[in-house]
Amino acid sequence: MADVEKALDDAGVTNPHVREYVAYWADLTGAERVEVVDAADDARLIKEALDAGELLPAGEGRYYSRSYHKDTARSEERTIVATNDPKDKGVYNNWRPASEMKPLLEERMRGASAGKTMYVIPYLMAPPGSPLAPWATGVELTDSRTVVLHMIRMSRVGVDYLENLDDPNMFVRAVHVTGDLEHLGQGTPDDKRYFVTVADERTILHFGSSYGGNALLGKIAHGLRQAAYDGWASNKFLGEQYMLIGIHDKETGKDYHICGGFPSASGKTNLAMMLAPDALGDRYHVSFYGDDIAWLWVDEKDGKLYGMNPEYGVFGVAKDTNEKTNPTALASVDEGTGVIFTNIAYNPDTHEVWWEGRTPEPPADVTGWLDWKGNPIADRAEGEKDAPWAHPNSRFTTTLDNVPNIAKDYNEPQGVPIDAIIFGGRTRDREPLIRAITDLAEGVYDGLTLGAEATFAAEGVDGQLRYDPMSNRPFMAYGEGDYAAHYLKIVGAAKEQPIFAHVNWFQRDPEDGHFLWPGYRENLRPLLWLLQLKNGEVKGRETAVGIIPTEDELNLEGMDIAPEDLQTILSINVPRWQQEMGHREEHLKQFPNMPEEIWEAHRRVAAALETE
Ligand code: GDP
Ligand code: PGA
Ligand code: MN
Ligand code: MN
Repeated sequence: MADVEKALDDAGVTNPHVREYVAYWADLTGAERVEVVDAADDARLIKEALDAGELLPAGEGRYYSRSYHKDTARSEERTIVATNDPKDKGVYNNWRPASEMKPLLEERMRGASAGKTMYVIPYLMAPPGSPLAPWATGVELTDSRTVVLHMIRMSRVGVDYLENLDDPNMFVRAVHVTGDLEHLGQGTPDDKRYFVTVADERTILHFGSSYGGNALLGKIAHGLRQAAYDGWASNKFLGEQYMLIGIHDKETGKDYHICGGFPSASGKTNLAMMLAPDALGDRYHVSFYGDDIAWLWVDEKDGKLYGMNPEYGVFGVAKDTNEKTNPTALASVDEGTGVIFTNIAYNPDTHEVWWEGRTPEPPADVTGWLDWKGNPIADRAEGEKDAPWAHPNSRFTTTLDNVPNIAKDYNEPQGVPIDAIIFGGRTRDREPLIRAITDLAEGVYDGLTLGAEATFAAEGVDGQLRYDPMSNRPFMAYGEGDYAAHYLKIVGAAKEQPIFAHVNWFQRDPEDGHFLWPGYRENLRPLLWLLQLKNGEVKGRETAVGIIPTEDELNLEGMDIAPEDLQTILSINVPRWQQEMGHREEHLKQFPNMPEEIWEAHRRVAAALETE
């Protein structure tokens, strides 16, 4: 049995509520040892992980890991929000009673960490001193050292965050137990995994995965689901799956901030790391605040809408990351960054790594190369030769300090004022490059009806076209109608309203499937147009579904695009949109208490489409 008291004493954990919580779970999970983690322990833990073979060397200060082959993405089906109030049941949150889920998870976790170390990770999901810090403190308990190393990169970790809390009992209790990954029936009717957020008790219980999206509880469960619930329950803020960037105009000296939601693996990290296109780089600079989560609130003193990134790192998709698409990402995972790669291809002889899209062709000499499952590429049978070397959802984990375009003020407690909120996703037709929306209710309505293709970041839904409200479908914590009302209330309280927009980098040619818009760095161009529109410098063209740029308003200097492709992405296919309105109506009808403002927005857009 672990000597919990001694471990806590040695680490200087005095908070009695934390001590009690750690002791309870150490006993229940049967962990052999307890170890309290601080970010300063990283080098030692890396060495231990290398010695244990949990990490493999991938160059100077770069590390490689594999997750179990049936454990490579978030599981939406097994993810549950539990509370004590049935009124919290929504369409997407898989609500269950807390009284049912807690005993179930305790049963799964009982004795399940026997022989292992239980790591205690005190963390803060906010810049220190943030007005939202009271909701940002948590303690993850995990029996996986790799999870610890990821948490140190993804969040601010240290015992100090637990001392001097205004309310010493106000921290999220986040318990992660890996379980016996080879016997959990992943994806079968007898699936034993459960990823539960007991939102009204601020307790997270995740069992049965060591993949980041299920196991980094500060990020995914606290930063999104718990934060969404807390923001609503406290009536103070929104917790959203948003990237957050700054755009600096060197000519006018102005700074703008844009945040926005795209479903997982749909371009948030790439947008946040964006290097301005060469032709525009003399005038504009894009800085990184966040790439996956933003918490938004209105400051009572100045009445402005603020946003901040609660995270401290990047958990990015590797696929298609290269010098041309995202040089910033490559620099963020370079030698000496301490990056951890997961599920890409690896060469144990040379310590090289590779993923699809890293170079146009995989390494010509396959000697020594292993695919993401650890199988030699050279031994592949004839029919397997085309299988990807890396898992499509393979990732890199690196801290914000490694990101070359990190904003200078990213650590400021107050966050940044928000000028624009955008929504987007992988939508192969209908959605133009950008359409701007100036009315709050229509903007919220637009987010709620975000329709896009699901991606490999979630198990078993890749490619399915579905609605993903505000890109929050997998993170929705309470009823969608209440969510819409809360959103309208929070953002509506700002004295200057942000402009909204819907963007789409992924429209395709119906015949040959090519992307009509080159994407990546070029995505700055429609965003600049949006800011010009907000400033009254361009007028755009009014359509039923928003304002879209005219061809000459969009700055295309130094960029190639076929004229017919440009025309398609800057036009509205009215019959196709009219058809879409029927689907949206069905979608919205699922949510019993959707605010009347949202229905009015829907009817306004539908009526405008009839006269278009
Ligand atoms: P996130 O999961 O939302 O942060 O998305 P990422 O930025 O990691 O991108 C996910 C995948 O989409 C990666 O394989 C990117 O290379 C790809 N991607 C990102 N932005 C674009 C774009 O503008 N155009 C195209 N075609 N692909 C993109
Ligand atoms: P992503 O982050 O949105 O950058 O893919 C991880 C996730 O949402 O699973
Ligand atoms: Mn995400
Ligand atoms: Mn991302």
